[in-house]
Amino acid sequence: MILITTAGKVGSAAAQRLVELGVPVRVLARNREKAVALAQAGVDVFHGDLDDSQSVEEAFRGVSGVVLVTAPVVSQELRVIDNAKRADVGHIVKITTKATANSSIARRRNHVAIEDALISSGLPHTFLRNNAYMQNFLMAAPAIAETSSFRTAAGDGRVGYVDARDVAAVAAEVAAAPAGHVGKTYWPTGPEALSADEVAGVLTKVTGRKVTFQPITYEEQKQAMISVGVPEHIAEDNARAVALMAEGDCDFVTDDVAELLGRPATSFEQFATGYAKVFA
Ligand SMILES: NC(=O)c1ccc[n+]([C@@H]2O[C@H](COP(=O)([O-])OP(=O)(O)OC[C@H]3O[C@@H](n4cnc5c(N)ncnc54)[C@H](OP(=O)(O)O)[C@@H]3O)[C@@H](O)[C@H]2O)c1
Repeated sequence: MILITTAGKVGSAAAQRLVELGVPVRVLARNREKAVALAQAGVDVFHGDLDDSQSVEEAFRGVSGVVLVTAPVVSQELRVIDNAKRADVGHIVKITTKATANSSIARRRNHVAIEDALISSGLPHTFLRNNAYMQNFLMAAPAIAETSSFRTAAGDGRVGYVDARDVAAVAAEVAAAPAGHVGKTYWPTGPEALSADEVAGVLTKVTGRKVTFQPITYEEQKQAMISVGVPEHIAEDNARAVALMAEGDCDFVTDDVAELLGRPATSFEQFATGYAKVFA
């Protein structure tokens, strides 16, 4: 039984993929209603909370492998690693990102703390250091539909956006058959790195309407997120990450998705075509 620690974008899609692969999978979901489709698909939905030690302990019954994905919250992931150690699980897939201990972005420092704990635990593991998710554009979709434009502090920086469902498929593949992946770090990306202008071009093509982008500053990016209800510390983190994109921080692509899945990584155009109605 593979335990997936959350039922968000990556967790849900990874669970669906494991069902397709015929691998027993449990998802810890704090909101049962959001996991109805997973339960219907044959996923063992465990109603629990990663902040509750007893709940995490119970979720580990019969578990042999883990897909570790949270916001990331260090305390939650350390609790999972602790339980995984006690349950002597065979392998953990850790969802992470390009992370350094001295990063200006708090969540990247959090990922390093978790990665270090996982290494110290001695548990066999694989890191998926994902590039930025294409799904981040879905947050801007209502504004794009309304104004035919989006605002970003990413400037001319190119980003090797990856479809979170490809990340999930890689996580499922590795979790289902970890031999050969132990101790490895993969860098899932899409097939190409795109500038904001090129993203606008793709959105123009798939919506049939001219979409443009408006360059904004770090401060404007942060305020824009706060104005739609993002807590200030997360807005700061996100705006810093976007500003770093302008400096080429996410300008990399790899063949990892294609090599691990045996098919090409999803392109931004394929992703946007699937969500064309939302963007239009
Ligand atoms: N976004 C990017 O561009 C990007 C790029 C690279 C790496 N990453 C990494 O990807 C990870 C996020 O993955 P994701 O996009 O799949 O996350 P997500 O869609 O934001 O989902 C987060 C999930 O965590 C659940 N959750 C929150 N608190 C919980 C708790 N106490 N107990 C149980 N569940 C809880 C949420 O449940 P509710 O629905 O109930 O809130 C939600 O289902 C992060 O580690 C991030 O750093 C992201």
